[in-house]
Amino acid sequence: MKSYAVFYLLLSVISTAISWPVQGTYYIPPGATCQDYMVPVTTTSDNYPWVAPKWSDDYGFIDFVSVASSRTNDDIPSPIGAPVSQTANYTIGATFCTPNTAGANAGKVLLATHGLAFDRSYWNPSYKPEQYNFVQYAINQGYSVFFYDRLGVGVSTKVSGFENQLNIQTSVLSSLIASLRLGHYTLLASAPTSITLVGHSFGSILTNSLVAAEPTAVDAAIMTGYGFLGSDDRLALQGFGPRVANLQSPKFSAFDAGYITTRDVISNINNFFKAPAYEHDVAAFSEATKQPFAVSELVSSAQPLLKINATEFKGPAMVVSGEFDYIVCGGYCPNELGPSFNPLFTGAKNFETYVQPASGHGTNFATNATGFYGVIFEYLGRNGI
Ligand SMILES: *[C@@H]1O[C@H](CO)[C@@H](O)[C@H](O)[C@H]1NC(C)=O
Ligand SMILES: *[C@@H]1O[C@H](CO)[C@@H](O)[C@H](O)[C@H]1NC(C)=O
Ligand SMILES: *[C@@H]1O[C@H](CO)[C@@H](O)[C@H](O)[C@H]1NC(C)=O
Repeated sequence: MKSYAVFYLLLSVISTAISWPVQGTYYIPPGATCQDYMVPVTTTSDNYPWVAPKWSDDYGFIDFVSVASSRTNDDIPSPIGAPVSQTANYTIGATFCTPNTAGANAGKVLLATHGLAFDRSYWNPSYKPEQYNFVQYAINQGYSVFFYDRLGVGVSTKVSGFENQLNIQTSVLSSLIASLRLGHYTLLASAPTSITLVGHSFGSILTNSLVAAEPTAVDAAIMTGYGFLGSDDRLALQGFGPRVANLQSPKFSAFDAGYITTRDVISNINNFFKAPAYEHDVAAFSEATKQPFAVSELVSSAQPLLKINATEFKGPAMVVSGEFDYIVCGGYCPNELGPSFNPLFTGAKNFETYVQPASGHGTNFATNATGFYGVIFEYLGRNGI
């Protein structure tokens, strides 16, 4: 009897441990009220058509990877053609959270855009939320947060991985801002008093592209996990150890072969975490709740194509990246961020760059994530946002 009891106890501990990543990924921070929305958006953007052969399996895909990341990749034909203006309708899954006790900051909305390999839960994970949850931290500072699944992932409209790209998603972000300005999709009694864009990684490229294209659309911009001069697209691509997502797991069966994903938790760690500033369990959570990303998202955000000169933007703006960010700084961010971004934000109010000590690329999941959040909110407060 006794050994059976121990056995069942063990079994229940193990099954709890195994089930946490997939269950309860939806989380509401204490002291917050949250509401989900399905937001219709219409986009118009100049889109790059995929002109290279499309693959259907990992053999075809890995040959693309080896050619695209080769030393001589400057000599090969681009996989994309000249941009074409296109209009489309999509639906975007989003969540708005606001403090139950509304103070002076509750009308200040942080509009958060996640990066590749995540969905909106990047900002609001159920795993150790007191340590890793940006939304919870923001709620505790009295702010409201609107965060959404980027086009293609979560419950947002599915798009081919050979088509989904930066310019479409910049237009999605523009449409979301316009809706929020009208007071839609929030629980606020009136329109937001300010809108601050917050991005991580690809979400930071989107944030930067948006304030470059529409310098008066938002009040402030915070870009995290973001770098420029020190980044090496070839390292980043290989660092994912990428595989075709729909062949890796049935849970990715709705994605076409243009959607790729990290091979396993170790290749996830290679690009997103840096020892010793992370817990193995948070990396496992991140891998277990990951989302695939589109090959066209990567190709369309190659440096020569970016339109990120934001010198017309007049609001407060900040770039914060981890000290040992592998993807965007080639593994070491000190002395990279200022030279990268100072020339692009000359018109911003109090533009700052900050290197978060010890952290890798996944700044929200490094051990000192709350210290990193503190830097962001200290900056916002100091600038009256
Ligand atoms: C988008 O939706 C609107 C309103 O339903 C419709 O008039 C328009 O034709 C749609 N556009 C596209 C490109 O599907
Ligand atoms: C940004 O654009 C402005 C205005 O067109 C131009 O003067 C400036 O040289 C550009 N800066 C960079 C870094 O491209
Ligand atoms: C945590 O991050 C903050 C903000 O960057 C920093 O001031 C602090 O020294 C960090 N703490 C540790 C233990 O690294």
